[in-house]
Amino acid sequence: MSVQQTLSIIKPNAVAKNAIGAICERFEKAGLRIVAARMSHLTREQATAFYAVHQGKPFFDELVGFMTSGPVLAMALEGEDAIALNREIMGATNPAQAAPGTIRADFADSFTENAVHGSDAPDTAATEIAFFFPEGVCPRTR
Ligand code: PPS
Repeated sequence: MSVQQTLSIIKPNAVAKNAIGAICERFEKAGLRIVAARMSHLTREQATAFYAVHQGKPFFDELVGFMTSGPVLAMALEGEDAIALNREIMGATNPAQAAPGTIRADFADSFTENAVHGSDAPDTAATEIAFFFPEGVCPRTR
């Protein structure tokens, strides 16, 4: 185990249902620390760039349309094994398969409107954090 950083996005459907606090509480209770945070309303160009790896997949247009439908909260989370821990707390991508008590089980509305995004590996975490926080994140103070 090692201390990692990962990118989390609270997606437009979860922001719209006023669930930012409830979702952040889950991160913090699990030991993840928020070291950067930014609300943004992504443009089509930004969402297309962020999800470039999925371009050409059948769900791509729906995904970009959804991610630009309202504001999101992007955060860099830090902690022991943060990438896997965040994905465990989030639950499966398809909320129908998300374990009870996970964020997606509780806040997702559909496969597309699945409440949260989390980086899936150290290299993508670094790229995704730099996408939202080109100025860097706050260093740990203790
Ligand atoms: S893939 O195709 O296996 O690479 O997909 P995955 O990495 O699991 O996630 C792809 C992102 O697209 C969102 N999305 C969907 N995925 C699959 N099927 C459908 N119908 C779909 N609609 C949207 C999914 O939520 C993932 O978004 P992020 O933000 O990365 O979690």
